[in-house]
Amino acid sequence: MTGKTIVLGIGGGIAAYKVADLASKLTQQGADVHAVLTESATRFIAPLTFTALTHNPAQVDLWPHETEASKSAGMPHIALADKADLILIAPASADLIARLAGGFANDLLTTLVTATRAPIALAPAMNPTMLARPATQRNLAQLQSDGFHIIQPDEGRMACEHVGSGRLPETPELIAQLEKILFPNRDLEGKRVLITAGPTRENLDPVRFISNRSSGKMGYALAEEARSRGARVTLVSGPTSLATPQGAERINVQSALEMRDATIVAFENCDILIACAAPADFRAANQATQKIKRGDSQIMHLELVANPDIVRECGTRKRPNQIVVGFAAETHNVEAEARRKMLEKNLDAIIANDVTREGAGFDSNSNAATFYSRSHQTEWPLMPKTTLASKIWDEVARLPTAKN
Ligand code: PMT
Repeated sequence: MTGKTIVLGIGGGIAAYKVADLASKLTQQGADVHAVLTESATRFIAPLTFTALTHNPAQVDLWPHETEASKSAGMPHIALADKADLILIAPASADLIARLAGGFANDLLTTLVTATRAPIALAPAMNPTMLARPATQRNLAQLQSDGFHIIQPDEGRMACEHVGSGRLPETPELIAQLEKILFPNRDLEGKRVLITAGPTRENLDPVRFISNRSSGKMGYALAEEARSRGARVTLVSGPTSLATPQGAERINVQSALEMRDATIVAFENCDILIACAAPADFRAANQATQKIKRGDSQIMHLELVANPDIVRECGTRKRPNQIVVGFAAETHNVEAEARRKMLEKNLDAIIANDVTREGAGFDSNSNAATFYSRSHQTEWPLMPKTTLASKIWDEVARLPTAKN
């Protein structure tokens, strides 16, 4: 971090106290750290704490003549905006997120954000219901498409005693995210990457379908990471509520048959496929064209037929210079099952996750997994899916193609 100027924009939230630790660690690592607090943030933590930890005057006011500290800084919003290598806004409250999404510049922090050319990371932290609010999600999606780096919140118990998503990640995770932005890895530059993500829906009739709990988060994190490393990314996605990673081409599908068709076409022109989707293994043998009536029946028999195994088909078609990586969602015999799938589907590697583990697998923000290739294995503990995506790409980028 030596030589890097980092602005910490602190919003009004109880997690503001955690940013004091971050300010201290970044300063110890050699960064020139400047804290800018919103008025609300000062209710949770004193600016003096940051002044003491960073050895730079913490600032709150937009008007430089009003405080002693800002007198020396000239026009603080312009001076800091020009100087910053990175701005991290943490905790980003719902109100601050809304103001940023709206382009407001009505305090020092939002003015500084408006005036900077530096990359901006934003770590939302708030009560889970506030975070899930459509307006907050809409604003976050807007900021993401405006180029902000959104750091996913952790799940767990909040200060308000609610449990859910909305905790500010711990200092090491925040520093890992900042490092990714400050020192971007371009090892996938020029590579064409294909990711499948999310569930499929197998219609039974016009209103009912069979599906599973996949949210698409793991696959989207892989797509996002591949983009940031310079890859051209195609995302074949089942139904999810997630925003498309910036710069990725997204092909929406519903059923496993549609996913198969889209994947096989895109596979022709890709260098690396990671099949993270959870396509249904079966579909209805006969799809009713009208809503199935309940009638008097107490038992309903469904006849199912097998869907194509998409990644197996890609493994069979694979050219010597292509890499195919699968996932294995397991509940038991994890290693044996993963290795069996890797061999039977002709995969170069497979990432096994035990989906019965608390906080891992389907629809959580975190995951724990083991990477198996033909030559070695690497185990990863529970961590945010965004961090795991980076570790997965570190391994996949090192895989030899048959051509090499
Ligand atoms: O989406 P999230 O909520 O973030 O959850 C992530 C995840 C749990 C879905 C992900 O980490 C994961 O494990 N994805 C694979 C799910 C799966 O279908 O696993 P499987 O063991 O049944 O399949 C093995 C491989 O075959 C997978 O690469 C799968 O994409 C592929 N497959 C499966 C069935 C099928 N018809 N065609 C396939 O290509």
